[in-house]
Amino acid sequence: MIFSMENYTKKYFITTYGCQMNLHESEKIAGILTSMGYSLAKSEDCADVIVFNTCCIRENAEDRAEGNIGALKQLKKARKDVIIAVGGCMTQQNGFAEKLHKKFPFVDIIFGTHNLENFKSLLTKKLAQKKSVIEVLEKETEIVEGTPKTRTSYPNAWVNITYGCNNFCTYCIVPYVRGRERSRKMQDIVSECESLIKEGYKEITLLGQNVNSYGNDLPDANFPTLIERISKINGNFRLRFMTNHPKDFNEDLIKAIASSDKVCKSVHLPVQAGANRILKLMNRKYTREDYLEKVKLLRKYLPDISITTDIMVGFPTETDNDFYDTIDLVKQVEFAGAFTFIYSKREGTPASKMDGQIDENVSKKRITQLIDLQNSINRKQSESYLGKTVEILCEDFDEKKNMYMGRDTYGRMAYFTSENNVIGQFVNVKITKTGGISLLGILQ
Ligand code: 5AD
Ligand code: SF4
Repeated sequence: MIFSMENYTKKYFITTYGCQMNLHESEKIAGILTSMGYSLAKSEDCADVIVFNTCCIRENAEDRAEGNIGALKQLKKARKDVIIAVGGCMTQQNGFAEKLHKKFPFVDIIFGTHNLENFKSLLTKKLAQKKSVIEVLEKETEIVEGTPKTRTSYPNAWVNITYGCNNFCTYCIVPYVRGRERSRKMQDIVSECESLIKEGYKEITLLGQNVNSYGNDLPDANFPTLIERISKINGNFRLRFMTNHPKDFNEDLIKAIASSDKVCKSVHLPVQAGANRILKLMNRKYTREDYLEKVKLLRKYLPDISITTDIMVGFPTETDNDFYDTIDLVKQVEFAGAFTFIYSKREGTPASKMDGQIDENVSKKRITQLIDLQNSINRKQSESYLGKTVEILCEDFDEKKNMYMGRDTYGRMAYFTSENNVIGQFVNVKITKTGGISLLGILQ
């Protein structure tokens, strides 16, 4: 075939940092670019538009993004027409866009979290002018519905239910870069879920910084009702949601989870710390006793529920004894998984001004101890799977392992071989081997 400009489609490449929220927002940027005639490039080298969707929740996420943006200087020198855009949480920080522009003048578009839906007009503007386009809105806008999406996580589909956060945990930058909490209308969410299930998606994951406070800003909506409404949609699908906040996680929700045949037997309930003094300094608005009480209630209704969590070590003033309270809580709850973090000082948050910042070596020792403990809990839990047959929703093919993979209702990952492509199908897998947190099995 003779290559001509006529059959050349413009290409985009997006790099995403951070959480599921960001992954889904990248799906929206991809959707906007697709609607403008762009298609996905294999790599940055052959892209016409390169987007960095950044995160600033911890310093290392920022450092990685800055390193990767800086590395494109040569590419931009060689191909002056390529458009480089940087958006997301990092650029939304006070004064950051200007700083970034000074440091990387070759970046063409800088946008924030509040004007992502405007990406088409930002790109159009840039294509018509030589100057960089820098537009970061200070305040959140009304929710924008109907942004096109190019989804990338089939058979799972992410669905936003709230944007922003009102909780102001003292370590966290999210409320500053994502604004106040806004809930999508229940009907908009339910309609989106109905369409996704019709399209063949098999798992819906509802997203919000605190899904439990969904509807607080609406006249007649709350999270348990939303769960009930989505559970009534016809079809064979799973429903997940994240993230929960222990202060708002209540019995009504537990009942809604227990009575739904769609909601997975897995709840992510970030505890952050096990010492009351630290929880208070974090402004989490619950005590370790409250947390343990909620776990007990959850297990009363759903004895086999798997509970995962987020834990931070090295929060300002954290003593060895405070840390042992965290260790003790982890032992008591026996989480099915824990995302563990070393506290990272974020400019502009109350915790960044606190005395008693912890030495990094101390934090590293603590996190190692915590990870070791969690790993031993996971190994024990994995062993209890041996010989059992579990229902797996196949998500992907792992090229390295040469195996298909997917999760059971408890969120546990299993790998298996199959002659047919079973991505997007519910399959039964008999577990024959365990490898730490993941399981290996035979397709039944
Ligand atoms: N430092 C370390 N971890 C943080 N998280 C949020 N802010 C920080 C910070 N400044 C963690 C919390 C949260 C998860 C998404 O990220 O544990 O639940
Ligand atoms: Fe950050 Fe706390 Fe809001 Fe979660 S609930 S996004 S940790 S402020």
